[in-house]
Order: sequence, then structure tokens, then C-alpha cells
Amino acid sequence: MPRNKMIVSIDGPAGSGKSTIARIIAERTGLTYIDTGAMYRALTWKALKNGIDPLEEPTLSDMAFKSNLELSEDKVLIDGIDVTDDIRTLQVTRNVSAVSSLGGVREAMVATQRKMALAAGKGAVIEGRDIGTVVFPDATIKIYLDASVEERARRRQIDLKTAGVDLEIQALESEMRKRDEYDSTRNNSPLKKPADSFVLDTTDKTIQEVVDEVASLIKSKERV
Ligand code: DC
Repeated sequence: MPRNKMIVSIDGPAGSGKSTIARIIAERTGLTYIDTGAMYRALTWKALKNGIDPLEEPTLSDMAFKSNLELSEDKVLIDGIDVTDDIRTLQVTRNVSAVSSLGGVREAMVATQRKMALAAGKGAVIEGRDIGTVVFPDATIKIYLDASVEERARRRQIDLKTAGVDLEIQALESEMRKRDEYDSTRNNSPLKKPADSFVLDTTDKTIQEVVDEVASLIKSKERV
């Protein structure tokens, strides 16, 4: 990795606060924000739109290599189509674990993610499940965010309510447990705490507290 680029990796399960924190940190530091979950979601959206089974490996891998993914100014585009809102539907959320478990799909996405981060002027804050372990094992600083499943389901319930969807907390907790299990036991790049990461439990913390902790970790690295 070029010495003049800073790569901050943020990994963790759904609802641990990765997107919120990564976005604020990127804004504060001038680093480019890369949401890798949004990329897997965009591919899932495209598969569903084209009636492709989310577990059909060869077709999906081929699609992943041929798709043009762009993340810019808070927008997510696939082949030039703005899917920023469409990738947050329940249908996409329910199918994205399957799509992101495929080896060929991950291979294509990891290559694109590395390219995006290395093209970013100053560097990037890049969030996902395998960033510190697979995409950038030599990241400048690795953060792993966690929170209890109850708190993560509560956060998801608030997000969904804002989008006009009312779901019982029990249903959300059980979906969250299922997705955690799937994402952390799959063969290809399962969700894992990178050995050399700073682990922050966000369950009882405010966004500001977590941002301050991450910012001071980054500062301490910059001084080295
Ligand atoms: O962070 P998210 O909920 O938007 O991620 C959507 C899904 O994509 C999640 O179920 C796991 C998967 N994912 C992944 O496998 N690897 C990543 N680097 C990012 C997300």
C-alpha cells in the first residue's frame, strides 16, 4: 500500500454503527467513504431485478465482474442506475447474505474495493465485514464495532420506521441473529474480528462518544 495513503477499516455486524461512524469520520478527516455493504446490496438488487437466483454462482460471479459500481456523493450506482434507496428494501436485505457468500462475487468486489480505495486522494474509510482481514490486511488502522443483538435490532427498527416500515422487535432480532450466523459461518471471508483491530462495543455509547474514540485512535496513528 502506498505510504502516503491512510486506510481506516471498520468491520462489524449489521447495526453495530459502522455506516454512521464511518461517514462522520470520513467527513472529519477528508478521507473517502466506501460502503462495501452497499456494493453487495446493489448486485443483489440487480440479480433480483433480472430474476436471477441469489445463489446461482456462475451467473452472479459473471455479473459481478461485468457490473460497473460507483459510490459517489452518498449515491450508489450500478451500471449508471441510481439505486441508493432501492438497495435498502427488505427484499434486498433478505437476499444479500446469499449473494455475498459467493466466492466469485467476493473476488470481483474485493478487486473493485481495492481500486476505489487506492484511487482516493488522501485515502479511505472503508467499512464492511472483511475489510481488515481480506481487503486491506495492512490497513493503517483497524476498527471492529460491535453491539448486543437487542440494541442492533432496536436501531434497525428505528431506521425502518423512518422509512415507513413497522416491524416487531422480536422479528428483527431473529432476522439479525440469522444474518449474523450466516455472515460469520460462511466459507468465503466470514465476518471475523481482525487480530490487530481496536474493538469498540457501541451498545451503551452515543454516536458522538464512538466518533471521538475512533478519531483519537486515528490521531494517535498519525503521530507515529
Ligand atoms: O452492512 P450491510 O448490512 O449493508 O451489508 C449487507 C450484507 O453484505 C451483509 O449481510 C453482509 C454482506 N457484506 C459482506 O459480506 N462483506 C462486506 N465487506 C460488506 C457486506
